[in-house]
Amino acid sequence: MDLFEYQARDLFEKHGVPVLQGIVAETPEEAQAAAEKIGGVTVVKAQVKVGGRGKAGGVKVAKTPEEAREYASQILGMDIKGHTVKRVMIAQGADIAEEYYFSVLLDRSNRTYLAMCSVEGGMEIEQLAAERPEALARVEVDPAAGLTQEKALEIVSTAGFPEELREKVAAVIVKLGEVYAAEDATLVEVNPLVKTGDGQILALDGKVSLDDNAEFRHEDHAALEDKAAADPLEAKAKENDLNYVKLDGEVGIIGNGAGLVMSTLDVVAYAGENHGDVKPANFLDIGGGASAEVMANGLDVILNDAQVKSVFVNVFGGITACDAVANGIVKALEILGDQATKPLVVRLDGNNVEEGRRILDEANHPLVTQAKTMDEGADKAAELAHQA
Ligand SMILES: Nc1ncnc2c1ncn2[C@@H]1O[C@H](COP(=O)(O)OP(=O)(O)O)[C@@H](O)[C@H]1O
Ligand SMILES: [Mg+2]
Repeated sequence: MDLFEYQARDLFEKHGVPVLQGIVAETPEEAQAAAEKIGGVTVVKAQVKVGGRGKAGGVKVAKTPEEAREYASQILGMDIKGHTVKRVMIAQGADIAEEYYFSVLLDRSNRTYLAMCSVEGGMEIEQLAAERPEALARVEVDPAAGLTQEKALEIVSTAGFPEELREKVAAVIVKLGEVYAAEDATLVEVNPLVKTGDGQILALDGKVSLDDNAEFRHEDHAALEDKAAADPLEAKAKENDLNYVKLDGEVGIIGNGAGLVMSTLDVVAYAGENHGDVKPANFLDIGGGASAEVMANGLDVILNDAQVKSVFVNVFGGITACDAVANGIVKALEILGDQATKPLVVRLDGNNVEEGRRILDEANHPLVTQAKTMDEGADKAAELAHQA
């Protein structure tokens, strides 16, 4: 999960990284009030999860609270590289003497952390890396040891910081390493890290990505999620512990087990070539226990996707036998009632398949068609999606 700058700023503050005051505002009035509270020169900063806000006109220096209000009204609602600005952060203005760059990230291919640092800031880092790679220090960091004081000193001297600045910058890097380790981040980037007129080192911008696999260790991270941006169906699926990924096509897919679902995606895509090029609309794995409730939740998610034209339920009965799955489907359709409007192709196989098929035959639901094989089911579902 990527964080907004203001969230990164809060995490920095929590771990003792020097930052300036910052207050989030959603309206020009709130922006003005925030600027009054902070006092002096402030900077109005668009909060979008994309870099280059400055160049896009999303970062503006305001000399007075009235100016902050004016800039906020310009920046709120602005589109920056496809991201709509819903909030701004009013930041205390810094007296910048020099700009530097620092980041630490997970280097999967090397199984280490990689720290990057440059004494030449102010330039976009991709550009710096391409045009003057020697100006960007790249230092491996042993994950077991982390960003120690010693490692931080190695980084700043490799980056060419003058002797008298090294201790000070290294101390901030150690704190950023604490953010990285304590929050289970995969990226912590500060661009620019600045030296102020009076010699302070400050993080003026922050980009943090948190490792979703470590979510269970951080109860507080759930609150950082941008719920408004998440796909509502994905959010609903997550609430119900369903493994769901939205794709772009027309055939909804429900299966049990990731392997079966993935091969179902392939077979449906292949069958779609004969039926107007329809494609899978999603990936939905209901896992081992295909109870009526799980099936109803799964169908509910898929049928609410406006793009879905037909659904292919492909289940291999194992511990949960086919008769239980069939009962699940019948009950799910009962629960959904009029909400179920799209044709369903069901292919059952495995444990107790005869009984499962008998239950579906007997229910004789007008929306349900049974298929004997996966290929047959995929073909039928693709055909129905194309006709719809
Ligand atoms: N609080 C601040 N005070 C003074 N200048 C700032 C402040 N925050 C940002 N800036 C200036 O604006 C530039 C762009 O802001 P930044 O936060 O890095 O956004 P982005 O990287 O998305 O362009 C910075 O390089 C810095 O020169
Ligand atoms: Mg920046």
